[in-house]
Amino acid sequence: MRRYYTTLILSVCAVFGLSAQSTWSVPQDQKEKLNTIEFTESMEKSGADVFAGKCKVCHGVPGQNNFNALLNPSPGDPAGDKFQKNTDGELFYKISEGRVTMPSFKTALSKDDIWNIIAYVRSFNPTYVQETSEKIETNIPEGTQLAMDISYNTDKDVVEVLLTGTLNDITNPVGGVNIKLMAQRYFGNLQIDEAKSTNKRGIATFSWNKELPGDSLGNIELMASFVDSDIYGPLSSEKKLVIGKPNNNPPLNKGRAMWNTVKKAPLWIIIGYTGAVLIVWIFIFYVLFSLKNIFALGKESISEDEKLI
Ligand code: HEC
Repeated sequence: MRRYYTTLILSVCAVFGLSAQSTWSVPQDQKEKLNTIEFTESMEKSGADVFAGKCKVCHGVPGQNNFNALLNPSPGDPAGDKFQKNTDGELFYKISEGRVTMPSFKTALSKDDIWNIIAYVRSFNPTYVQETSEKIETNIPEGTQLAMDISYNTDKDVVEVLLTGTLNDITNPVGGVNIKLMAQRYFGNLQIDEAKSTNKRGIATFSWNKELPGDSLGNIELMASFVDSDIYGPLSSEKKLVIGKPNNNPPLNKGRAMWNTVKKAPLWIIIGYTGAVLIVWIFIFYVLFSLKNIFALGKESISEDEKLI
């Protein structure tokens, strides 16, 4: 038994060991991500504050090698080679997403906070030269209020998203912007078609599959958003349209759906189950009845002949 436990523990360790050693892969496009502006001293300062509050517990003070050595994989010193070999994009991705003991800071920190931390950490690397991405020029004048509207084109059976921009009370369609469309499902969202660019009239067109189930009335909740939310902002638009296939099955997340399975069970399962329960009860009564007989036998007077034996 002990050998069995040892093997089990060793194999669990091996699995964890392997996953800990496997490299932390960052998608190519994320690796190349750069900040749009040059790091400044004030960015480094606010990065230092956030670092002291959120990262120091595990990573220690950069350059002092006083990170938490008990953690596996090791968090490492941010001033060290291993850490600094990351591109800015890799650092950004790793801080946002996290891995095992390294927490994800996607929601806890703003993008600016993360860039500030990177600015701070880079200040410990004398050979680091920052590359910035040119801010991608958009054809949208500064100060324009963007708005999206989702509609269904019944002639063409497509979903259209109209993007308009309003500046000084004048509204114009905005072309050349990539938009993605999602449909809300019970567990997460489903992307509809590929991301599409708005045309000169400001319209992005998405093909629609009419077989997609909606609620009992065929309602589907659609959401449109920018592919490059870094450039155009986090604007998104939602709309409920009656374009799905009406679906009368109770949704899986409805309270009763989990428990109404008796209604869905085929007859043979119900009969089989009831039969099995009956057999068990008959057996229990049979055992009780036999026990009663044994007691009764024990109480019967014993004849003289039997006493001799
Ligand atoms: C609970 C402990 C903990 C906290 C808090 C923490 N980290 Fe980490 N971090 C780790 C561990 C452990 C690793 C190694 C993860 C791995 O290799 O799978 C790591 C890895 C990293 C890496 C990748 C390093 C490399 O060599 O590629 C970066 C970047 C990083 N952390 C930045 C941060 C920043 C910035 C913060 C604060 C906002 C932070 N961490 C907070 C534990 C932590």
